[in-house]
Amino acid sequence: MPVIEVADLVKEFSRPKQQEGAFAGIRTLLTREQTVKRAVDGVNFTVQRGEMVGYLGPNGAGKSTTIKMLTGILVPTSGTVTVAGTTPWRDRSRNARRIGVVFGQRSQLWWDLPLRDSLWLISRLYDVPQARFREKQRQFSEVLDLGPFLDTPVRQLSLGQRMRGDLAAAMLYDPDILYLDEPTVGLDVIAKERIRTFVGELNRTSGTTVILTTHDLDDVEELCDRIILIDHGKVAYDGAVDELKTRYAPHRELVVQTDGLESVEGAEVVRREGGKVWLRFDPVRTPPADLVAAVLAQHRVTDLSIVEPELESVIHRIYADRG
Ligand SMILES: Nc1ncnc2c1ncn2[C@@H]1O[C@H](COP(=O)(O)OP(=O)(O)OP(=O)(O)O)[C@@H](O)[C@H]1O
Ligand SMILES: [Mg+2]
Repeated sequence: MPVIEVADLVKEFSRPKQQEGAFAGIRTLLTREQTVKRAVDGVNFTVQRGEMVGYLGPNGAGKSTTIKMLTGILVPTSGTVTVAGTTPWRDRSRNARRIGVVFGQRSQLWWDLPLRDSLWLISRLYDVPQARFREKQRQFSEVLDLGPFLDTPVRQLSLGQRMRGDLAAAMLYDPDILYLDEPTVGLDVIAKERIRTFVGELNRTSGTTVILTTHDLDDVEELCDRIILIDHGKVAYDGAVDELKTRYAPHRELVVQTDGLESVEGAEVVRREGGKVWLRFDPVRTPPADLVAAVLAQHRVTDLSIVEPELESVIHRIYADRG
């Protein structure tokens, strides 16, 4: 049974029409004319319990707007959303207990309070039994390494520390679903890795369903089996990460270090550098093992590797094709 069901979801924003010519700025402020922007344009998908889904798309594609409707912050123009049987924007308080939300751009914590106090307040707001709270705080402090700054007021935390605090706050009351909107934006490699490990472990140990928006495809490679790509408010792809690569980037590259390879059947030489040769091939038509055997039969090879397509280049190609 799906835990999230989204059907024909549409969100339009009206804005004062941009005026042109002299005093354009002031005339735009004063105008009554409105233009309508469809940020989300007929989105459909369902998510099963325990899935980790990457919700991806270029800037302005409608990702955050979708997340805001899923979490009940925004009311859609039309369409339906059902999260664990309820409509998020109609039943906000019931929904709130079942979901954890982290917006990378904005903190949910109290700025003036030490992180420890913020976490304690949240545990009270959500009626977390105190023994359970202490256990969670201990567990999260370990994985997210909160110890060094638990007693620091939130406003003095670095971005990476604050994000880790926000994640702990979002998961204190054991919500079934975690929404993450750009949780790793602006963080260094180590902080990113901490957050990925934490989210991955939550999913494995508690079966938490995760919807993740990010521009860092390493987040997706590490955490998500499935991605939903949106572009101009519409779903451009919904499926497995591997299938996306196979469908849009069917080629692999065999990189060999060798003594002068001119050509080999079933592959195309796409690059040469030093003694290295890059051979592009379609693994369906030319099984990698056959290609490797053919190369080894004819040449003295000192090194050899097969390169998978990068998710990033695959996604760029899809957007380029759609124009
Ligand atoms: N409150 C609002 N009022 C008017 N327009 C809005 C509002 N919020 C978003 N939009 C517009 O809706 C579109 C989608 O915005 P959204 O924030 O959902 O994009 P996004 O996919 O999250 O992009 P990013 O990757 O930059 O975060 C954009 O064109 C944006 O300008
Ligand atoms: Mg966004």
